[in-house]
Amino acid sequence: MLYLLARCVKGAVRYGKSGNFNQSPDNRRHGTNPKNMADNIRAISLLLKNKVEFSSLDYHEIIDMACPGDLVYMDPPYQGVSNTRDNRYCTGVDFQGFVDALSILNQKGVDFLVSYDGECGGKAYGAELPSGLRCKKILLNAGRSTQATLLGKRHITFEALYVSEGLSAKVQTKPTQMTLWEEVV
Ligand SMILES: C[S@@+](CC[C@H](N)C(=O)[O-])C[C@H]1O[C@@H](n2cnc3c(N)ncnc32)[C@H](O)[C@@H]1O
Repeated sequence: MLYLLARCVKGAVRYGKSGNFNQSPDNRRHGTNPKNMADNIRAISLLLKNKVEFSSLDYHEIIDMACPGDLVYMDPPYQGVSNTRDNRYCTGVDFQGFVDALSILNQKGVDFLVSYDGECGGKAYGAELPSGLRCKKILLNAGRSTQATLLGKRHITFEALYVSEGLSAKVQTKPTQMTLWEEVV
């Protein structure tokens, strides 16, 4: 699985109608050096060991388990790949069902963060989360769009991050986007 994720186009595992893996090998890049990858995996393992528990559950089950004081972060599939006509992915996430689940977190007083679609080249992708959820929407600079670059264009992708009302109230200062490895002062 690691090999497929590292070597297939965009790291996107896709299946055909018959259930067979049908993504192409990415012959444009060599990818991460196996030694660097092994070092990264060991370093991350050291950080997580004895502190983290992994579960593979439907997100509704996690939302049921969440209590006030928890922070729920979700990165659902892009809306563009969540309709039933797009069969490249096993399952999508129904928009209204997702909105209802976030309302439950609001009712329970559980803080949450959601990465959900965004903008690229002046075009917005996906429907916004409804204002009734009272989230704060922040657009994060995710760097140059790989898709646009392949088409010979220079577009920056902005990913939307929705912050629950309770969590944004706790953040006193105006959030600013840090660059990778920037020191917190
Ligand atoms: C955009 S990807 C998340 C990528 C992840 N943040 C990462 O950096 O690797 C969306 C994920 O949602 C998962 N997913 C789809 N439907 C789900 C559901 N009903 N409950 C929980 N996870 C689901 C998919 O399996 C996929 O891994």
